[in-house]
Amino acid sequence: MNKQSQWKSSTGFILASAGSAIGLGAMWKFPYMAGIYGGGAFLLMFLVFTIFVGLPLLMMEFTVGKMGKTYTTKIYEKLTKKKWLNIIGWNGNLAVFILFGFYSVIGGWIIIYILNVAFQIVTFSDNTLGSIKFESIIGNPWLTITGQGIFILLTMIIVMMGVEKGLEKASKFMMPLLFIFLIIIVIKSLSLEGSIEGLKYILQPRLKDISMEGVLFALGQSFFTLSLGTTGMITYASYASKEMTIKTSAVSIVGMNILVSILAGLAIFPAIAAFGYNPTEGPGLLFKVLPQVFDQMAYGQGFYFIFLILFLFAALTSSISLLELNVSNFTKNDNSKRKAIAIYASILVFIISIPATLSFSSLSGIQFGAGTIFDNMDFLVSNILMPLGALGTTLVVGQLLDKNDLKTHFGTDRFKLFMPWYYLIKFILPVVIVLIFVAQFI
Ligand code: TRP
Repeated sequence: MNKQSQWKSSTGFILASAGSAIGLGAMWKFPYMAGIYGGGAFLLMFLVFTIFVGLPLLMMEFTVGKMGKTYTTKIYEKLTKKKWLNIIGWNGNLAVFILFGFYSVIGGWIIIYILNVAFQIVTFSDNTLGSIKFESIIGNPWLTITGQGIFILLTMIIVMMGVEKGLEKASKFMMPLLFIFLIIIVIKSLSLEGSIEGLKYILQPRLKDISMEGVLFALGQSFFTLSLGTTGMITYASYASKEMTIKTSAVSIVGMNILVSILAGLAIFPAIAAFGYNPTEGPGLLFKVLPQVFDQMAYGQGFYFIFLILFLFAALTSSISLLELNVSNFTKNDNSKRKAIAIYASILVFIISIPATLSFSSLSGIQFGAGTIFDNMDFLVSNILMPLGALGTTLVVGQLLDKNDLKTHFGTDRFKLFMPWYYLIKFILPVVIVLIFVAQFI
């Protein structure tokens, strides 16, 4: 899409931005983070941050995009006449690049699981889903590198062919179908013997489970699911016309992300309790638990296969936008370079994603900072680059942009949201982000 193009309707805008924002964050990352940082306590912190910090920040990014109407490594200069502020856009670009690097690891796992369910390439000896062994699949370096290579290749081909539009249309039925599948899994999980403990674990906020680390990761999780600070949402809004209301879009994206996160939690935790897994399994959690749940269903293998395809689709609509963001910042609306840049960017992403993959096999012994190489890439993006990017934008919006101009693009509404929102962005959220940011280094 070039600079001049615009969404024809608000629905198109919502579908595209939701497709980009709803992905592995809610379905894969939320349950494993909640498992590590206290279940219900984490859910509560995540909800508070998502509604009181994430939602206003998302409205801010949409407003900035609508005002600036250009790619994100230029938009800050265009709005403030200060060239050095483009660094906020570059920070976002860097975040998106590293994010794609570890995102593709999980995308690769989905592909390997799909191939495994279809052709039983690895374990699966007694022909039941329950015998799929996460460790023996993900512990195989070549297999996982191949999986993520396929994931990156698929993303690249879609971006090169420019068929994102078709995918947006497909997301109209793929996403609702994914919802339905999640609900089926929730019902199945809850019907398992011993599931109640798991339900309690994810729904009951036990205050003693709240830790400083948990607070940090809950904030990071809100940023991650809502794509904040990566300038992704700014880009989507830069294609929105003046009349489009950004508030409805922001509220629907936040609502859908919360809904999918909670459904994922309700699908996973009861099953964890029923099958005796440990909630603190980490990134492999979903991949270990779900085959067991489907194993208990009639036609489980078929259903699991369809679920994985839908899951892959949700991951791809996000990865496409990750690659697209990098490509559009370098093509600068000159589409002749598009294909070449998409290829270079994909090769670079593939290279940086290899150490991330190997964090689960040959390089698992390398531990520092936040954990493995994979954990550190995630930490760098979710807890450093994304908050920094969002902080930069709050400062630009609160201190440099014209209030009336902001108001025009924010739009009016019967709740008179503009003033509370504006003061939140101008005075409160920058302080909140700085405090939490500083706290992690103490
Ligand atoms: N929100 C996405 C998810 O939950 C991840 C993400 C963060 C993202 N920033 C992005 C996706 C920018 C696309 C573009 O899966």
